[in-house]
Amino acid sequence: MSNLQIFLDVATEAALAAGAVLQDYLGKVEDAITEKGRPGDLVTVADKASETVVLDYLHRHFPEHAILAEESGKLGNQQNEYLWAIDPLDGTTNFAHQYPCFAVSIGLLINGVPQLGVIYDPFHKELFRAAAGLGATLNRRSIQVSKTTELSKSLLVTGFAYDRRETTDNNYAEFCHLTHLTQGVRRSGSASIDLAHVACGRVDGYWERGLSPWDISAGVILVQEAGGKVTAYDGSPLELYSGRILATNGLIYSSLSQELLQVPALSTWG
Ligand code: IPD
Ligand code: CA
Ligand code: CA
Repeated sequence: MSNLQIFLDVATEAALAAGAVLQDYLGKVEDAITEKGRPGDLVTVADKASETVVLDYLHRHFPEHAILAEESGKLGNQQNEYLWAIDPLDGTTNFAHQYPCFAVSIGLLINGVPQLGVIYDPFHKELFRAAAGLGATLNRRSIQVSKTTELSKSLLVTGFAYDRRETTDNNYAEFCHLTHLTQGVRRSGSASIDLAHVACGRVDGYWERGLSPWDISAGVILVQEAGGKVTAYDGSPLELYSGRILATNGLIYSSLSQELLQVPALSTWG
């Protein structure tokens, strides 16, 4: 069995176990929700409990690997070629409101490049997995990106970062512009699910700013292995730590990139 397959199996076990923890906490965290800093940036006991489960699996199986986990930060020797990027609960705001759109996201970077990803949506029991060269699956069946070729016929998804009240670079203008040009732009509130949905063709493209590596590491390889394209807004190679991502089925990539680079001011929509 290849190393990647072993890593994938352990990450899968961890995601399923952490997802079960999230499901157990669903609807029971009202008294234990706190804000992490910015208004609306919530953390619950469920985020922490889920992360403990994932860390436990990874420490047990790969004690020498480095970790970047949303709630615990950097653990282990960050110079190690293997770095696990973990979001134990992606979609915390949804979770806190019992809006059923949240996931555990576990990505593996090898020498800084996303090579493996597991995203588990425990409410819908959907397990998305991918590894470089091994393809992408949903509940163990192969998945592919959509075949939509025109932006005017596309359905997109995006999100708004927690700093949206502090900056005019908050994605509101982009949202209006692309809502006008497409069949619609959704906002799910879970970046990893957004990427998973690009990978399985439910949406044709996704863009967002203000993200962290744990939000997108798993989803990047999922979209790539499903035949999609992931870059920066301008089509240059993705910079995982830049916070910006453009992920599409590859067919609408250049038109979506072009539109993102020439978004009219918000006042246009007044
Ligand atoms: C958030 C979600 C959301 C995105 C935010 C993320 P969290 O992650 O992925 O979709 O718009 O930028 O921070 O806080 O729920 O783990
Ligand atoms: Ca997240
Ligand atoms: Ca999170």
